[in-house]
Amino acid sequence: MTTVVSKQDSTREFAFEKADFKNVQQMLFKKAGINLSDAKEAMVYSRLARRIRARNLRSFNDYLALVNKSESELEQFINALTTNLTSFFREPHHFTALADYLSQHNVTNIWCAASSTGEEPYSIAMVVAEAYGSFKTQVKIIASDIDSKVLAKAKAGVYPLASIAKIPLHRQKQFFHKGKGANEGKVKVVDELRNMVQFKKLNLTDAKWDVKGPLDVIFCRNVMIYFDKPTQLKVLQKMVGMLKPSGLYMAGHSENFNMYTNLVRPVGKTIYRPVD
Ligand SMILES: C[S@@+](CC[C@H](N)C(=O)[O-])C[C@H]1O[C@@H](n2cnc3c(N)ncnc32)[C@H](O)[C@@H]1O
Repeated sequence: MTTVVSKQDSTREFAFEKADFKNVQQMLFKKAGINLSDAKEAMVYSRLARRIRARNLRSFNDYLALVNKSESELEQFINALTTNLTSFFREPHHFTALADYLSQHNVTNIWCAASSTGEEPYSIAMVVAEAYGSFKTQVKIIASDIDSKVLAKAKAGVYPLASIAKIPLHRQKQFFHKGKGANEGKVKVVDELRNMVQFKKLNLTDAKWDVKGPLDVIFCRNVMIYFDKPTQLKVLQKMVGMLKPSGLYMAGHSENFNMYTNLVRPVGKTIYRPVD
């Protein structure tokens, strides 16, 4: 049997001991509630080595000391370690449920609570615009994320052409401009749709959230999986408290809250309603 020696370890520019990884895990949990699994060790090294280099530092210790005292480096640290995977109309059944909900209720407020690069809140905005046959509606859509880099991308609303390939043509035509010349291969969300969404930076593990209830629908998808159970429960409790009695909470495909029977009841696939 051959022993596999990680090539990366021997060629690493900065020493990265188990203790360094533990310190990163603890810091990320403290600042963002995110539980980094041990499997992410290599990813952490490569993403943070870039920051250590950028700040002309020599070790992970020095870097974490900087993160502790500098707000701007803390922001970079969080941006570097978040997972931002998303897509337009991801988990499409939620958008069908949203369209149904809009047809039956007088909706005023929707919150997309981990909006990443914007595909999710813009998908919500498309469904709202279609429900009203107009970009001008009474529905306020708030989209938030802890990561300032993805929020900037979301606000810009520029995506690779391939990212809208699965969206039906009529939606592509109504909601996107195709780039030409230097922008060939890119699309931009039309201004009217962009204006329907208000983006803000928000840490779900902060004690206070700058979002006003009561809310009709909360999309909080594929972020709770990064939190431990007590944090999940705290966030869920707070969110459910902000929902209208008829409101909906949309969870990610691997997020299950069926056990919190005193808080929510399932009303569809990963869709919950507050209990009376
Ligand atoms: C995997 S993406 C999910 C994006 C989208 N909701 C979806 O399902 O397609 C997870 C997002 O959660 C954000 N996030 C992680 N921890 C957070 C926290 N404590 N507060 C707010 N957002 C957080 C990340 O920055 C990332 O953009």
